[in-house]
Amino acid sequence: MRKLSTRRRHPLAGFVVLLMGLVVVGGLYTALAPKPATAEAATTQDVEAGRQLFLIGCASCHGKNAGGIETKRGGNYGPSLVGVGAAAVDFQVGTGRMPMAQSAPQAPRKAPEYDAEETKQLAAFVASLGPGPAVPDGEYTDISDKTPEQIAEGGEFFRTNCTACHNSVGAGGAMPGGKYAPTIEDVSAKHIAEAMITGPQQMPVFSDAVITPEDKSNVIAYIKRLQDQPSYGGLAGGGLGPVVEGLFTWIIGIGGLVIAAIWIGAHGARVKKK
Ligand code: HEC
Ligand code: HEC
Repeated sequence: MRKLSTRRRHPLAGFVVLLMGLVVVGGLYTALAPKPATAEAATTQDVEAGRQLFLIGCASCHGKNAGGIETKRGGNYGPSLVGVGAAAVDFQVGTGRMPMAQSAPQAPRKAPEYDAEETKQLAAFVASLGPGPAVPDGEYTDISDKTPEQIAEGGEFFRTNCTACHNSVGAGGAMPGGKYAPTIEDVSAKHIAEAMITGPQQMPVFSDAVITPEDKSNVIAYIKRLQDQPSYGGLAGGGLGPVVEGLFTWIIGIGGLVIAAIWIGAHGARVKKK
């Protein structure tokens, strides 16, 4: 007992306790603290490599420091990318929209020009310019164990928030100004999550504060279910819905019958007798 108490009074004892406390608190903090949005596993090498790629492939439109380039008429040649985050770059480059080939109202989806490593580097560079949404992880995209209820919930959300632009089966649709909401029939889970997080073009941003990652993964699960739906042959009719399809049947079907009746009336046997 005496031995212990003398040791406890060692001049360094207090310091050691303090140090241990700090280590414990620090450890707990790193374990429990929420991940900051830019805490991708991106290294300074990634950022530097991304900067080099950016100068060659993107700076002509977005500016050397990605601050955007204004045209003489005041419009943007390429918008500022400060604060758009890694998610926006991963989406735009990963779906081949960027680098944009020529000036157009909307960058079309095409085969990506950069591989996964280069895309990560470009994303790291842009993320280093200002805080923005990170590339979504499994919290959004892991849909393997979704229950039918969760998928139905996702479907509910999809019908209220997405079908106005993307159509009820995700086939896409036209928008004002020569723009369009593309089909989402063949989009990966990660890119769906990124589209919701970053809101490209006129698509609204569905931020995590309003729609939790869990909700987002439900929507993704529903869209994936739509994508997997087999086609049973025949004309799909574009999934335009009962009203449009009914109207189509009415006009083409009944219209055809009316034309046939008129033809019979004009060419029938009685007409010839006259
Ligand atoms: C020919 C010009 C041009 C080139 C080259 C180009 N961009 Fe773009 N970029 C644009 C325009 C215009 C827009 C806005 C229109 C749109 O989003 O479709 C845009 C939008 C973006 C956005 C979306 C910004 C947001 O607010 O979400 C990102 C991210 C982006 N570009 C990244 C890149 C990267 C990375 C490269 C190089 C690999 C690149 N761009 C090359 C013209 C260009
Ligand atoms: C106001 C119209 C609008 C609404 C509402 C909307 N989107 Fe979009 N969406 C767009 C437009 C426009 C684009 C194309 C952006 C581009 O080309 O840069 C797009 C692009 C996408 C893409 C990328 C497709 C591709 O080809 O890579 C996905 C995925 C997507 N939207 C999913 C959704 C989901 C899920 C919802 C509902 C939560 C939704 N959108 C709601 C207009 C909309």
